[in-house]
This record gives sequence, structure tokens and C-alpha cells, in this order.
Amino acid sequence: MSYRESLVLLNCLCWAILALALFSSAEKLSVSYDGRALTINGQRKIIISGSIHYPRSTPEMWPFLIDKAKEGGIDAIETYVFWNAHEPQQGQYDFSGNNDLVRFIRTVQEQGLYAILRIGPYVCAEWNYGGFPVWLHNLPGIEFRTKNKVFMDEMEKFSTVIINTMKDYELFASQGGPIIIAQIENEYGNIKGSYGQAGNEYVKWCADLALSYDLSIPWIMCQEDDAPHPIINTCNGFYCDQFKPNSKNSPKMWTENWTGWFKAWGSRDPLRTAEDLAFAVGRFFQYGGTLQNYYMYHGGTNFGRTSGGPYITTSYDYNAPLDEYGNKAQPKWGHLKQLHDLVKSMEEVLTYGEVNHTEYGHLTTATSYTYKGKSSCFFGNAENGDRDITYGNTTYKVRGWSVSILPDCKTEVYNTAEVNTQTTIWEKVSSQVGNFKEPMQWQWRDEKIEFVSREGEVADTAMTANRLLDQKVLTNDSSDYLWYITSFHLSGSDPLFGKNVTLRVKTSGHILHAFLNGRHIGSQHAQKDKYSFVFEKKISDLLLYGFNQISLLSATVGLANYGAHFENSEVGVHGPVELMADGETIRNLSSNEWYYKVGLDGEKSEFFNPNCQLMEPWNYGNLPLNQNFVWYKTTFQTPSGSEAVIVDLMGMGKGHAWVNGLSIGRYWPSYLSIENGCSSSCDFRGAYSDGKCATNCGKPTQRWYHIPRSYLNCGGENTLILFEEFGGTPLDIDIQTTRVKKVCAMPYAGSTLELSCHDRTISDIKFVSFGNPHGTCDSFQKGSCESSTALSVIEEACVGQRECSIEVSEKNLGSTGCKKRNRLAVQVTC
Ligand code: GAL
Repeated sequence: MSYRESLVLLNCLCWAILALALFSSAEKLSVSYDGRALTINGQRKIIISGSIHYPRSTPEMWPFLIDKAKEGGIDAIETYVFWNAHEPQQGQYDFSGNNDLVRFIRTVQEQGLYAILRIGPYVCAEWNYGGFPVWLHNLPGIEFRTKNKVFMDEMEKFSTVIINTMKDYELFASQGGPIIIAQIENEYGNIKGSYGQAGNEYVKWCADLALSYDLSIPWIMCQEDDAPHPIINTCNGFYCDQFKPNSKNSPKMWTENWTGWFKAWGSRDPLRTAEDLAFAVGRFFQYGGTLQNYYMYHGGTNFGRTSGGPYITTSYDYNAPLDEYGNKAQPKWGHLKQLHDLVKSMEEVLTYGEVNHTEYGHLTTATSYTYKGKSSCFFGNAENGDRDITYGNTTYKVRGWSVSILPDCKTEVYNTAEVNTQTTIWEKVSSQVGNFKEPMQWQWRDEKIEFVSREGEVADTAMTANRLLDQKVLTNDSSDYLWYITSFHLSGSDPLFGKNVTLRVKTSGHILHAFLNGRHIGSQHAQKDKYSFVFEKKISDLLLYGFNQISLLSATVGLANYGAHFENSEVGVHGPVELMADGETIRNLSSNEWYYKVGLDGEKSEFFNPNCQLMEPWNYGNLPLNQNFVWYKTTFQTPSGSEAVIVDLMGMGKGHAWVNGLSIGRYWPSYLSIENGCSSSCDFRGAYSDGKCATNCGKPTQRWYHIPRSYLNCGGENTLILFEEFGGTPLDIDIQTTRVKKVCAMPYAGSTLELSCHDRTISDIKFVSFGNPHGTCDSFQKGSCESSTALSVIEEACVGQRECSIEVSEKNLGSTGCKKRNRLAVQVTC
């Protein structure tokens, strides 16, 4: 056992002992549901849940992520279970490190939160192959996600492993654990039509399987209209207020409220505003919803080769309330927290109260909930224009695309369009402080380029075949890379001889590097959303009389994760591979003898592992720049402090990065996001879709890559190793940390503003005006009226503090003389 493995084991043992001591006496809960809500020990509940996928962060991050979720008003943490992470080889399980599901669920429990376990085991989730292991595909006779015995047997086997593990550690609520809900399958309803009757039978089988585990907690199926009773069908989407469960005895639940969107290489950065997200949540509770889950609350990082799609970026930030690194993404985090606190305070009336809707036309509705003489109201306006409504004897303005909440049906306490929380602007700063930046010292080595020897032999081939084979079938997903190698003879009597010859390769993704006689002749990659392409290159000048070799290195960027029969999507060189002259195919090489070689030489020799003793040492000096297939290595010091650490890989092309031998994912800063569709302003009103309000047009899709602190040596030296595929220059690579740069806010009178520079202190007040200011962060302007004392009050309360609380009122900030409702604009430097 290696040192690392023994540490992991020791860690696990400590956890097991601690957990046994902590949880053996936990209260067993009776979880059920009725047509209104989930019930816990017989009481109806409002549950606000947030998705955090355990392998997208590290065990060291989990406690603070879950803590911040709890602080944000989250009651439950939802996660999928990732089959291919846990069973990378058939029958060989891995629950270590980021895959330690038991530790994750226990961390949730320790914080006193509930857990929702979406076992799937199909998960979608922009995860490689939707969570399925590729070995599954290679089982004879298998068909995924339908009534197919081979598939169902494996699905049952894996689901049982998970259920039994959870049971063994007493993690279900009925055992005293935190898991209150479990999910089987995932959005099967979206694709069921393609499977005919077998699909219907499969759904029934899934339900029976789930119920056979006898967990005494409710099971759900999302986006599954015909989920059989007692399984609850739930909604996924940007808005779920109009969703109706398929039984009046099931509560209205929303399993995926998309807080933003995922990114593919070439995509812009998503922005779903806090106002719109809060509007969607407000409407859901207005219309009788009682459980909703943010997908994602913390998106995190696709470490290693876990991103699917294909083409999903390494960052899975998702524009979630906690950003990729776990920092509070404000104002989203805070605006939602206020909403959660309020909705939770109305739990009893919302789950037991009598409901009454009053329609005002123009998509404006007042909804009251009345229970035991107490009433709470929602006023919702789903049009863009503001509306006045008269309720009781009072007239209220309900802003366009907003929901107002009046816990006593008289006083508006919250409006989804009025953001009273701060906006935090984060910056990335080099970890090398001071004016003198010591350049990183780089070492390098070449990746071996394969080509057939004159005898036609290739060492270490996976196999040979007289046809072109699918990449994932051959690699079994052990690498992104597969070599396709073949040879041919050219004689004087060949119809190709003396012609203008072109090599033409049709490939099904995602990247192709072509070599002729050991020389690189070109590389090409797919464009986002279109994964097959044709590579063409004139090769006449390089052809040899006699023996010629063609080596094609095909690289995948994650496997498909969505759609009916997605498991059969072709990847790799499926051909034809042809030699063309004068626009005609002269020779089709597709059924030549092809040699297959899985992975890179450097992967096999573990160039990424700094502890590996290599036969040939790394090179110093003559650093190759803009050269493909180069491995680079450098060292850096662990930045002090506790801020998130990232590496800026600007200048690099595309490849894979490791820190201290641990993969931090694929990188591709040279892939720019699309040029069009960004604008500097964003109107939150109107239905959100992923392109709306997007940012980052024309810039690197992803330039910064997260290095979890636990991957670093405390106060010591670390090794960064890169495999560069297209060619880049590592000279500008920089290790950085994130920190708050400035904070802005524009709260309305009547609210309390909590200002925070997180771990830093508020050093300077840049702007203050209490009255009728306008503008946004960095461009705030005074209006026609303002208080003369607001600045000094705020200076007094905030400067030199990490956080301060400001009551936004004339009483506290001084009278303004304004006729309309006062507002405070404030900008501080951290
Ligand atoms: C849903 C799916 C999730 C995720 C999401 C988009 O349809 O259930 O797993 O893929 O879309 O982020």
C-alpha cells in the first residue's frame, strides 16, 4: 500500500469512528408525504434544497460549502450518485477522496441538514457518459435505459451497492440518517417515447426496484409523468410554478431549479439574475410548491476526465449561488437567503393554509394562504410592466416580472425584483506579491509520436483490425486518446503517383491530429454542438515512393451524456479515410489493416506524476514554445492564506493539467467563446434561457483552473505538470488566489444592508448617496436629493471592519427631502 493510500485508509477509519460516536443516537425520522407537502414526523414541511455534487469538490471543501448553504437558508443538500466514478472497472469500487459518498452525506448530517440522494444511476449532469461506466456499453447484448436484462441486472447491482452502503452507515432518515428522499432514473420521460412499450415497462421496473429496497422514505422520478404511485413525479426547469404532479396525493416538488447554466467549450458565460431566480422561486411557492432544489447551489469543478457533454468545460460554476471555488456569488446568494428565511417563516400557513387566488388580469395574481386566523400573501406579476393592484383597502405596486411577499397580507416584506443585498466583485491576484515576479522555471519533454515501422509493427497495440473502430469501445474510457495507425505502398504504377493527393478523414470527434510518415501534417477540432467533421490535407509533397504510414491521434473531450440511445453515439475516426486526387477517391483506407494504441506514452509512463522515476530525465533549457505534444513541468509555492487557489493558463492551447499528480482537469484557453450575443446591460424581466444576459463573448471560454487547497502541500512546494496538445506558451502561467475587490449595493429604505468584504476589511468608501441615486457599481451617480449625513454614518459603521450592518432608513442615515421612496447607493473598496 502506498503512503497516500494508507493516509486515505487512516482518514476513513478516523471518520468511521467519529461518525459512529456522533450519529449512533440520531433521531429516526418518519418521512412521508401527502398532496400538499413532504411530512416529517407527521408535520408538513417546506424544504429548500441545493445541489452540491460531491466529486465536483473535495472532502476538505464540503464542510464549508455545506455551511455556507446552511447559512443561505438551505435545508437539504441534493446530490446525484456517479456510477462511473464509483465503479470504474466492473466490480471494482472506489469510494475514496472526492468519491467518498458516505463522508459527504455525513458532513451534510453534521451540519444538521437533510440529504436528497438521486441515485439514477443515469444522471445526465454534464458528466462523462451521463454517469455510466463505458465497460457497461461493452457488455454483449446491452441496451441502456430500457427493458434489457443485461442493463437492468447491472443497474440493480450498482443501485443495491449504494443502498446497502447507505443502510450500513444508517444514513436513511428512517434509520436516524439525513436522507429524506431518493431518486431512481432521471428525466426518463424526456426520451421514453423512443423506447416504445419497453420504455413503459422499464419505468415500472425502476419503480418496483426502488420500492423493493423498503427504505421508508419517499422516492421520486423527475420529468416522469407516469411515475407509478407512490413514486412522486417532480419538475425540472427554469420555472415550475405551473407544474402539476400526476396525482392529487403527491406534493408539488421541483428537483432542478437551474440557477444558471453549464458551459461548453465555445460557450459564453451564463448569467441568470438574482431577480429572475427569486421570481421563479417566489412563483413556485405562490402556486403551492413545497419543495424546491437549486441545480446547482455549488456547481464546482469537473476534475480529471469527468466532464461529459461532450465539450463541457472543466469549470462547472453554473452561475450558482456559491461560485466554482465556494465563494458566495453575491447578490444571488444573499437575495435568495432573504427569500428562504421569509418562506420558511411562513411554513405552517403555506403547507396547511386554505388557498385563495384573486386574478387581476395581465398575469397578475394575488394568492392568500389562511390558517388558524393568520393569512400570508403573494402578489405575482408575470408581465414585464409594473401593475397596481388593490388588495383589502390598499393599493400595491407590483413590479414587472416579480413576486411580492406579505407575510401578514398587509405589509410587503420582500419583492423578488428589489435586491437589497450586496454585489461582490471578486478579483484574481497573483500569488507572487510585490513588484518582482520570479518567473516560473519550466522543464519539458516530448510526447512520443507513434508511427508504424517499415515492417509494419507497432509496439503495445491494443489490437489490429481491418476496419475503423469506435474510440470509447477500444479505450474503455481509460484515456482521451487513441492512435489509429495504418500504412500503404505507393508504386510507380499507382493511380496516385504523380497526382495532387489529399488525405481525407471523416471523424466523429472531437479532435484529430494527423501524421504522415512521422510528420505532423495538421490538427483540427470539432465546433461546439457539431462533433463530426472532415479533415483534409494535401500530402503529395510528403508521400514516399514505397512504404507510407498514416497515424491519426484522435482525442475525445468527454462522452455524450444526454438523449435517447446516447450511449451509441460514435466517437473517434469512423471514416471513411481516403486518399483523393482531382476530387475523386482513389484509395479508401477504411478497411486497411489498422493498428490501435490506447492513450499517450506519457500517460502510460505517468509523466504527470512528479514522484515517478523516469528513464529519461526532463529537459532544461531550449523550452519549446507553440509546439504540439509537449509535456511541461514547473514548481510553485503554496500561496499563503485560505483563499481559493487557481492557475491562469492564458497562453496555452489545449491539454490536461495536474498538480502534485492530481488532475485538475482538461484545459483549453485557446478556445474562444462565441463572438455574438453579449450585451453590457441585462434586463431580468422575461423568461430566462441560457443565452440571455450572457457575458464573456469572444474571450477564452475558460482561462482559470481551480486547484483545491487540499491538493497543495502545506506551506511547501508543488509541481504543476501540463500536457499540451495544440501548442502554447507557458511563460505567462500564473498561480493566483481569489479575493474580494469591491462591494456595491443599492438597497431600498426599509431594509437592512449587510456589507461584507469576506476575509478582508472595508478599507475605503468610494461612493455613498442616500436619496434617489442611480447607476450601477462603478458608475453610481447622485440624484436630485440626498441625506447629508449618510456618508459619515456609514464610514463610522464600516471602515476598518470586515462586515457591517446598515439600517436603510432616514432615522439612521438622515433625512433626504426626496418625495419618492429612498434608496441607498454604496460602493466600498476591500
Ligand atoms: C437536466 C438534467 C441534469 C442536468 C441539467 C442541465 O435535464 O437532469 O442532470 O443535465 O439538465 O444542467
